[in-house]
Amino acid sequence: MFPPGFAWGASTSAYQIEGGWQADGKGPSIWDTFSHEKGKVFEDQNGDVACNSYELWEKDLECIQQLGLTHYRLSFSWARLLPDGTTRTINQKGVQYYNRVIDDLLACNVSPMVTLYHYDLPQALEDLGGWKSPGIATLFDSYAKFCFQTFGDRVKLWITINEPLVCATLGYEDGIHAPGLEERGIAAYLVGHNMLRAHAMAWHSYDSDYRATQKGAVSLALNSDWLEPLNPDCIEDVAATERDLIFTLGWFAWPVFVTGDYPEMMRAAIEHRSKKLGYIGPPRLPSFSKDDPTILGTADFFALNYYTSQKVKAGGDDEQTLCMKSDQDAEELIDPSWPICGVSWLAVVPYGLRKLLKYIKDTFNDPTVYITENGFSQMGPLQLEDVQRCEFFNSTILEVAKAIQEDGVKVRGYFVWSLMDNFEWSFGFSVRFGLFNVDFSDAKLSRTIYQLGQEYAKIISEHRNSG
Ligand code: NOJ
Repeated sequence: MFPPGFAWGASTSAYQIEGGWQADGKGPSIWDTFSHEKGKVFEDQNGDVACNSYELWEKDLECIQQLGLTHYRLSFSWARLLPDGTTRTINQKGVQYYNRVIDDLLACNVSPMVTLYHYDLPQALEDLGGWKSPGIATLFDSYAKFCFQTFGDRVKLWITINEPLVCATLGYEDGIHAPGLEERGIAAYLVGHNMLRAHAMAWHSYDSDYRATQKGAVSLALNSDWLEPLNPDCIEDVAATERDLIFTLGWFAWPVFVTGDYPEMMRAAIEHRSKKLGYIGPPRLPSFSKDDPTILGTADFFALNYYTSQKVKAGGDDEQTLCMKSDQDAEELIDPSWPICGVSWLAVVPYGLRKLLKYIKDTFNDPTVYITENGFSQMGPLQLEDVQRCEFFNSTILEVAKAIQEDGVKVRGYFVWSLMDNFEWSFGFSVRFGLFNVDFSDAKLSRTIYQLGQEYAKIISEHRNSG
């Protein structure tokens, strides 16, 4: 059912689990700053301690072993390794921490997949202009090279940047993620542009200096919902759906997998909207120049984060400011028949994952795919026996199997978000995605397996060596 060597993983990210925000010379990141500001996160919670994986790593490792994972996806905290974001100062304690994590994983026969950037820019770089400044790409590249050099003998799967779309829109337009800016017009596209440039530089560095000896693979993790027209007979809805997918996945995947540049349809929609709202100024979607690294071909696999699906209705967006949402000019709705799991935006639509995988195969030249995140959340009273999450999970795995067997999508791995409950960004600890529950009210932060974790362990043991 699943090909030999299929990766059965779980994912986490540094800020969401590590804690130790000032431990052993770590520099502050934009999430430290943002979460310490009043009113930014649910009940003013923060990741100062989170799951304290910085001190309790061996507990995480026990969970990983209990599940029987073949792969574990974690992220490095840039500011833990390079406190001011540059290679001028290297924090050896940070290096030791990640060395230990990687070595322990390998000793247990678990392969690490490492994300270099999961939302937590060193504050020192934000102070210099952060992702809006073109120079960030070179600094990211130096950080990436440092990581390839230091850890690449053992890490074979790299993700440069996690969810550039979310970083750009939630961080720079909506202000609900760090650095909390609400700039309309150009900011999000500029951030996305610099993220693509940074990603491509790092991929080229790996390709030219490390690939031959380290033999690993590098990509960037893109998130997308599956989208389908509200009314499949309405030509406007069908067109809006196509455009919407181009905005969400196409924004980053088109340059990397198809043409080296942004999709024409996206540029046209942005220009159309800008004109309509009387915008005067430079094009809001930047262009790549001849000095930029080549973007086309800078991914060795497709890394997809999938959670939910939406129905798309053309127009209806009366947003009068210039932002990505208004450029898309569509309304996204949840079908009332879809069950909601935990947070309100999380309608569970297993078939949507299969459809999205097929779309990726057809649109992005049939790449090898890792589903680097997929998950089901809980809110409110704790339910360790989470039968419903188990059902959702099992139907989703079935859809992945169908995508492989019936649609021929080259899916090579599936990672559950998340190994354990953790700091869910602006929702703080109120949303739980874990395979393990973490008791945040207890100083020991004890980890207890959910039924979902047991279910996953069962699936893994059935498939692990079956290939
Ligand atoms: C995507 C992000 O990568 C991760 O950090 C987040 O916790 C999950 N989705 C769930 O929202």
